[in-house]
Amino acid sequence: MKLGCCYYPEHWPEDIWADDARRMAEMGLSLVRIGEFAWSRIEPQPGKFEWDWLDRAIETLADAGLKIILGTPTATPPKWLVDQMPDMVAIDEQGRARGFGSRRHYCFSHMGYRAESRRITAAMAERYGAHPAVTMWQTDNEYGCHDTVLSYSKAAAERFREWLAARYCDVDALNAAWGNVFWSMEYRTFAEVDPPHLTVTEANPAHWLDYRRFASDEVASFNLEQTEILRAATPNRDITHNFMGFFTEFDHYDISQDLDVATWDSYPLGFLEQFWFSEGEKRDFLRQGHPDIAAFHHDLYRGCTGGRWGVMEQQPGPVNWARFNPAPLPGMVVLWTLEAMAHGAEFTSYFRWRQAPFAQEQMHAGLLRPDSEEAPAADEVREAARVIAEIGPQETTQAPVALVFSYEAAWVCGIQPQGKSFRYLELVYEHYSALRRAGLDVDIVSPAADLTDYQMVVIPTLPIVPDGFEEKLAVLECPVLIGPRSGSKTGSFCIPGNLAPGTLQELFALKVTRTESIRDGVSEPGQGFNITRWREDIASDLEPEFADADGCGVVYKQGGRRYVSIWPDRALLDQLVARMASEAGVALTALPEGLRTRRSASHIFAFNYSSTPVVWPETGEEIAPAGYAIARRA
Ligand code: GAL
Repeated sequence: MKLGCCYYPEHWPEDIWADDARRMAEMGLSLVRIGEFAWSRIEPQPGKFEWDWLDRAIETLADAGLKIILGTPTATPPKWLVDQMPDMVAIDEQGRARGFGSRRHYCFSHMGYRAESRRITAAMAERYGAHPAVTMWQTDNEYGCHDTVLSYSKAAAERFREWLAARYCDVDALNAAWGNVFWSMEYRTFAEVDPPHLTVTEANPAHWLDYRRFASDEVASFNLEQTEILRAATPNRDITHNFMGFFTEFDHYDISQDLDVATWDSYPLGFLEQFWFSEGEKRDFLRQGHPDIAAFHHDLYRGCTGGRWGVMEQQPGPVNWARFNPAPLPGMVVLWTLEAMAHGAEFTSYFRWRQAPFAQEQMHAGLLRPDSEEAPAADEVREAARVIAEIGPQETTQAPVALVFSYEAAWVCGIQPQGKSFRYLELVYEHYSALRRAGLDVDIVSPAADLTDYQMVVIPTLPIVPDGFEEKLAVLECPVLIGPRSGSKTGSFCIPGNLAPGTLQELFALKVTRTESIRDGVSEPGQGFNITRWREDIASDLEPEFADADGCGVVYKQGGRRYVSIWPDRALLDQLVARMASEAGVALTALPEGLRTRRSASHIFAFNYSSTPVVWPETGEEIAPAGYAIARRA
């Protein structure tokens, strides 16, 4: 695995670039990502390009032996461009135009902006596509960051109508699919359909689902326009995009079809603070991040491209954007870096080289302080580089467990949670954590993936079952678990005629006759576990495998397959994982709290995310807090 950093030569006087480059190489870095926000310096006036500074920056970095990941600057359209076409900005759900003065202020559906995006991409590709040091392109930056996938602009409305016309052909088909007879919502033409916002009460969930599908397609087609230009003008260069954490606003599998390498931006402490974790977890893992945050995304994004992935931005110290921004425990930067390697990353690149003393991110740590002295992470980068050199390149092999992840499932649960705390990402994450706690390696895969070679398949929920999916499950011989709400919706967001789990009734002799959500803080006893958030009444002649305190079934097993009809808590998940593993003949390791492992083809890595020393059962060695251990695999 290579190491790199994110660098902004345009932020610093030119006379320090060479020293920066030398120091990067000395620290053990061989990659540097530049350019992704530099449009106002590349083209300060419409059509007047100033390449000289960027030429010199690239030469300076290349002279130090660094390879360059060059970003297209389309996440930051300059002021003159916004003034030229003010309607290129995204419109928020309240109907307000998003202003200039930060970033990502464009609408994916604006054809004028699309043309500008192609123009600047082509100009950069032509200028640097053949440069031997430019080995990878990054398209744009973090599609969707700052809530920018959905736009309610005129351009988006027009493109949505075209998208609907192509999907349904006939507006009566749309009316029927969405159930628009309800509340007299019927349309006479596609031209009458608007985006689903500013309605008096909620819009039709089917309307929302199609709007989300459309918006996701818009991100994919925006990205494709750039990748087509880059591929034509700069052959043999890899193309990536840097995805975000806990982010499901567009279908990353779709976009990844047009990428060579999926990358993501890893900020474990910020994510712990900003997402659903309990107060106890936020306290216990304050300076480490929850033990599965980084690994979850490594496994998710590795599955997007079928193997090739990396970390484009790694947190090196306190960030600026969470509610609270603690410093990592000493050792965490090494740990995060090695955990990425253990999961098969091609590179880890730290964000950023030097903390900027100005503008929005002035409180965000880098590898250097604003005065150019080293920040604490710098020595950890050297340590990571040393270990990487020592153990050599790591290959990944297929994990024993496939965890099926669906962006559409995330949209369905988000559009109609039915219970406020039914959060798709959290449900998937809970399953993932249960598997990792038991020492298992996991591949996170799309519903379209080939599942045949896995030893266990876990599907936390799949409300819309894709065509043919039940046949795919039917031929699997390994244990399969499928969770609540699966098969509960048709492709157009209606309840199936045969009720949930819809077509999955071919695999399970059961029917969901009623569902209820349970308010936060309320929990009902099961036999050895608790029921919270969600439960389904099941009609079935099958004997339940697990039941609540009154004997009502909550897990049904038919052959090697299980249907879970509640939000499973940790105790139930642990039991289910243990049973499935035992049926599959997969060995488990009971790991101490906070310890996690991951195997490459040649090594097994252990990472201690807790704040106390723990003993690694595999070798008997004690691992310090924020420490790691590596052993050769037998
Ligand atoms: C990412 C983004 C970077 C920077 C970083 C700060 O979301 O891609 O440009 O803003 O966060 O943590």
